[in-house]
Amino acid sequence: MIEPTGYRDLDELLARLDRVAGLDADALEAEHTSVLGRKAGVLTAASKAIPSLPPEERRAFGAAVNRVKQAFEEAFAARREALAEAERRRAFAAVDLTMPGRARWVGGRHPVTVTVEEISGIFRGLGFVVAVGPEAETEWYNFHALNFPADHPAMDMHDTLYLDAPPVPGERGGRQLLRTHTSPVQIRALLSQPLPVRAIMPGMCYRNDPFDPSHAPAFLQIEGLAVDEGISFVDLKATLVHFAQAFFGGGTRTRFRPSFFPFTEPSAEMDVECLLCHGAGCPACKGTGWMEILGCGMVHPRVLENCDVDSERYTGFAFGMGPARITMLRHGITDIRHLYEGEMRFLGALATP
Ligand code: PHE
Repeated sequence: MIEPTGYRDLDELLARLDRVAGLDADALEAEHTSVLGRKAGVLTAASKAIPSLPPEERRAFGAAVNRVKQAFEEAFAARREALAEAERRRAFAAVDLTMPGRARWVGGRHPVTVTVEEISGIFRGLGFVVAVGPEAETEWYNFHALNFPADHPAMDMHDTLYLDAPPVPGERGGRQLLRTHTSPVQIRALLSQPLPVRAIMPGMCYRNDPFDPSHAPAFLQIEGLAVDEGISFVDLKATLVHFAQAFFGGGTRTRFRPSFFPFTEPSAEMDVECLLCHGAGCPACKGTGWMEILGCGMVHPRVLENCDVDSERYTGFAFGMGPARITMLRHGITDIRHLYEGEMRFLGALATP
């Protein structure tokens, strides 16, 4: 403890000042408390003793105390800063500057989504609206209204997934099922919209198929429907040829082959020239030079009648396509399962921002 009257004690304290620059962090704080601490600090005690000194000594002693105090404060601050700087250097040295940066994951649209959006965009440009319908349907919408005769083998062909659910009150008929195609949305569009109708209807469909390179039990379809007075097969062809050129590129050749669907008459399938070999014949097109991309036809009069549309006055065309298949043709993908697995290296290679 400092003798209030002893200048000598202050001199001794100054000897401790020299050691401050060599203290580590803990010792520094202990020394700070011991010298400047508000309760028991040596210099604090010296300050408090000033009033009890003989009046002629107070001034000089007070000034000396203040000088020593200031010297300690500066020494402590300098040492604290030196220790902090050393710590910063140590932390920085521990950073491995040669470590590779962390790559950012940039999201992108799924290639099938890109296809759906492009197809929808092309038809919107022709005045089609985009419409949707439910994935859980009844037999009436999925089959009967579309002119599938009851117990017709075509119904088995679809390998339908039936739902174990009671009939929906007020909904037209039969068992509930997962729609096997988007064609039931044609029925919903005709029943709910005033004519003329021009609609493009994308959505998920379900079939009891095992996953293999060319089948998936859950898949997208895009349905198209145009019903108005005076629509003919020429409109169907012109619309779909326009679509093929807009989507696959100007000059892409197309051909129509006769086909069969219960809900269209006549029915056809449209092929485009093989995108890989441009018609020369390759493994992707099985040597034919052509790739099938959609089914289509003139809406069967019975379908119109089932929707209370006068089939004497109105005609229409419909088409349906699988955007996953079209995406595969476009990118030369040979296994549809790649489109479902979410494998980042695969999707990243096809990503569109
Ligand atoms: N719904 C048919 C299918 O799933 C495709 C299709 C739609 C054919 C519309 C003609 C007209 O295969």
